[in-house]
Amino acid sequence: MNRKNVNPTEEELALGANGLPFEVEYWRDIYGSGTDVDATFNAKEHARYAKSIFNLMEIKVNSVADFGFGKGILLKETVKIFKPGRVLAIDPSEQMLDELLAQKWIRAWNISVLNTTVQDLDLSYFIHLPFDLGICNSVVQYIQGDLKPVFEKLHKIVKYLYFSVPTKDDYIRMKKEIHFEDPYAFVRTKKQYMKMIEPYFRRVGFNLLESRLVADSRFTDQLFKDD
Ligand SMILES: C[S@@+](CC[C@H](N)C(=O)[O-])C[C@H]1O[C@@H](n2cnc3c(N)ncnc32)[C@H](O)[C@@H]1O
Repeated sequence: MNRKNVNPTEEELALGANGLPFEVEYWRDIYGSGTDVDATFNAKEHARYAKSIFNLMEIKVNSVADFGFGKGILLKETVKIFKPGRVLAIDPSEQMLDELLAQKWIRAWNISVLNTTVQDLDLSYFIHLPFDLGICNSVVQYIQGDLKPVFEKLHKIVKYLYFSVPTKDDYIRMKKEIHFEDPYAFVRTKKQYMKMIEPYFRRVGFNLLESRLVADSRFTDQLFKDD
């Protein structure tokens, strides 16, 4: 059951729909071993696909920001393949923050790791905006209420967003096919998501959103681009 909360506090923003934080129980009960979670077992393929589509469109990616990095597996593969000069990684989970900071690979990169939510991320913290590429993979289902302010903020922070979110129909399918239910998630329809995304981003490919602030878009083929 989704909680109704008009003005959530900083702590409440970091809780799922069931009122629980993204700490030990979440990673044990929902995430499990991660071996069957999209963008975990196949993180390398996602990163290769992203690299390939940016190469094809001749778009340079020199900075990467991950909003809700979790185990950091997709982040790691994305950083390895794009080799960005600047990386931002945020997540409200203290456990995931500690785990990321303990990983050796991050030492080779210019990376800022912040323990915060997208909602609480302060734009004035950044001198150089936007980042070329953002990642927000399977995160916004954990954010309560109107997501327009979230997308409004994100479209100013990144030019492109590698994005995915399960919709109501996806949850129905996952329940039927793999008996998966997520009590931490706020469930929304595709229509609800599109209404909140469309003012700020265009869909330009699978899992790929382009900020409407990108003026010189390389994605010009009409059939594969939202108006
Ligand atoms: C399903 S995991 C996805 C992790 C990672 N993006 C991936 O693809 O493997 C969801 C993550 O979203 C984070 N999260 C939840 N609410 C958030 C918020 N309001 N802002 C940023 N991250 C959030 C959780 O802590 C968790 O790490």
